[in-house]
Amino acid sequence: MNIDYNAKIPNNVDLAANKTLQRALEHWQPGFLNWWGDMGPEGTSNADVYLRTAISVEPKGWAHFGYIKMPDYRWGIFLAPAEAERKVNFGAHKGEPAWQEVPGEYRANLRRLIVTQGDTEPASVEQQRHLGLTCPSLYDLRNLFQVNVEEGRHLWAMVYLLHGYFGRDGREEAEALLERRSGDADNPRILGAFNEPTPDWLAFFMFTYFTDRDGKYQLCSLAESGFDPLARTCRFMLTEEAHHMFVGESGVARVIQRTCEAMVANKVDDPVAVRALGVIDLPTVQRYLNFHFSVTMDLFGADVSSNAATFYSTGLKGRFDETKIDDDHLLNAASYPVLEVRDSRLVTTQAPALNALNEKLRDDYIRDAAAGVERWNRVIEKTGIPFRFKVPHKAFHRRIGPLAAAHVDPDGNVVSAAEWTASVDRWLPSPGDREFVASLMGRVAEPGRFANWIAPPARGIDNHPLDFQYVRFN
Ligand SMILES: [Fe+2]
Ligand SMILES: [Fe+2]
Repeated sequence: MNIDYNAKIPNNVDLAANKTLQRALEHWQPGFLNWWGDMGPEGTSNADVYLRTAISVEPKGWAHFGYIKMPDYRWGIFLAPAEAERKVNFGAHKGEPAWQEVPGEYRANLRRLIVTQGDTEPASVEQQRHLGLTCPSLYDLRNLFQVNVEEGRHLWAMVYLLHGYFGRDGREEAEALLERRSGDADNPRILGAFNEPTPDWLAFFMFTYFTDRDGKYQLCSLAESGFDPLARTCRFMLTEEAHHMFVGESGVARVIQRTCEAMVANKVDDPVAVRALGVIDLPTVQRYLNFHFSVTMDLFGADVSSNAATFYSTGLKGRFDETKIDDDHLLNAASYPVLEVRDSRLVTTQAPALNALNEKLRDDYIRDAAAGVERWNRVIEKTGIPFRFKVPHKAFHRRIGPLAAAHVDPDGNVVSAAEWTASVDRWLPSPGDREFVASLMGRVAEPGRFANWIAPPARGIDNHPLDFQYVRFN
């Protein structure tokens, strides 16, 4: 079969000129489409979806809108433009020209970083695959599908690097990316948060707000890499990631808006009475927030990590905004505060900054995530309801690192196992909470209509009105 891949895979890496790579990707593509068919959005292969497709990295090219059936989406390969004479900007190789090929001695670590990032992309598609059946509107359905196809493109981005720069073991890793499954007991995805189910739309919005934002911080760190193709790939992925976080932030804000409006109109604030109105009570939203925030905390890895130190020292993975930081970019003498549990209390100790890079990235992330939570609080404030969301303490509900050994409440107090068990339903979504939220989920698929539990957005997509037919069913 002759496939014109130049037309089929939009790219700015001159794929047509590299026959070996083109053949490798040709070989991988049917497996990807099978995976999409099996694990991609459920029951939608025939719908025309008003999607954004990247056709170049120019400001006008990466947001090209039109109706498309998702299996026909043109998953392309795009690298941000090369920076002339780019250097390795940190670690032992600081000041040397950035690498255009993989340095032999760092091959295994670099491959591991790329595979770990790549694995999250199909994982989130798998986690979200049933959500289309319970969409609160066509606008939201379209946004879900946009996120899904772009996560698929992010997988392509990582697979391009594996195929293009890692030879046979890269090809094997690219196959394995299609074989692992989110939540599978025998062959799960690599990172914990990507094996949690995303059972309802509140979970989806929290996931895209908190967990896609982890993606932003990982991509920003990899965009500093001394391995230039990785840096350029991640830089372009970040443009798409911004939309995913927008879907999450605005989605949660609309849930809050609707709940507050119903509370004010009916003069109720007791959660039971609020639920009776068919909207999600604010304490339940807080518990969802606590859950998604805490599982995302774990994605940054152990607080003190020799791997993180190695990735940095060897120039593979930088810090967030590395080149904007005013220090020596070596960190050999610096220290950084980390938390430890001592005598049933959290205490701050100083760790070598090189080993605490996961913790530093986690702290950078928390500042960013907390700012959006304050924007949610302003939505509540405007309605006059005396309720505020709080970002839980970073030691709350941890499964990774030394803090996982302790039970820590959302305020940062170490509590006994008995206290934890007695209170956990106030801190994390209980089975009853999840059941209630699930009971609200029902498909709303008429243009311009929105489910009762969520407010319409402020504006539509690509300047279209809210009652635009964002998805056409055939
Ligand atoms: Fe992604
Ligand atoms: Fe994303």
